[in-house]
Amino acid sequence: MIAEARAAIEASTRIVVMTGAGVSAESGVPTFRGEEGLWRNHRAEDLATPQAFARDPLTVWQWYAWRRSLIAACRPNAAHRSLVQLMCRKAATTLVSQNVDGLHEQAASEAGRSDCRPVLLHGSIFRVRCIECRNEREHREDIEATSLEALPHCPACGSLERPAVVWFGEILPRDNLRRALEAAAAADLCLVVGTSGSVYPAASVVDTAIASGATTIVIDPAGTGFDSGATLKLSGAAAEVLPLLVR
Ligand code: OAD
Ligand code: ZN
Repeated sequence: MIAEARAAIEASTRIVVMTGAGVSAESGVPTFRGEEGLWRNHRAEDLATPQAFARDPLTVWQWYAWRRSLIAACRPNAAHRSLVQLMCRKAATTLVSQNVDGLHEQAASEAGRSDCRPVLLHGSIFRVRCIECRNEREHREDIEATSLEALPHCPACGSLERPAVVWFGEILPRDNLRRALEAAAAADLCLVVGTSGSVYPAASVVDTAIASGATTIVIDPAGTGFDSGATLKLSGAAAEVLPLLVR
């Protein structure tokens, strides 16, 4: 199956890659669903919705501060690096990610290929956005989530800032979603890595590629929502399987 997948990649000209939390699992970033997933011990509606932030911004920021410090200690793994190599070898590759951890970008910059950027569907955990004027900026400093005053505030208008991520019930960044869907509709090969496929509209990017007739390869150690539509399912860890495909 590895040989078959390699041949499919060689033969393809327009590739769309969709990644989820599983691509960063071997870097030490927790996934959301499954045994050790974040949604096992945390209620999404208390932490990842606009209503939760309006009600209790301090609790929401404490959770994001914890995730940021956890992610800041993580390094890209062989899966992230292989995807940078793939983008170098196959110029017409669009990398789409649901991840907010920045590890695709970090792998690209470590390879001296900062141009190999992912199309982000769910934002970035190291960016913040003003709740009033919507001014957005990078923010990597430690967050002292001990009082409302200590939380990040907008340099332009002084209002409270929130994590620049997409929460449940919110719309995705329109241009990024459009780019992802266009790449999927035009793709002859779709590589799906480490996503359960349970969150829409992100999952519709893969649905679009499958519906458009793209050869679809799913890399995931567990079952996903895309398995029935996939041409090939490679049941394994991303950091082990992807280097075999792209080497
Ligand atoms: P999930 O936690 O739903 O799925 C992670 C997938 O990664 C599962 O299918 C696992 O089997 C797989 N996995 C685990 N370890 C792996 C490994 N080493 N290699 C490859 N795959 C592995 O995460 P996502 O599908 O990314 O949304 O979740 C989608 C969205 O739901 C997230 O972007 C987030 C979450 O709520 C927002 O924050 C808006
Ligand atoms: Zn502002």
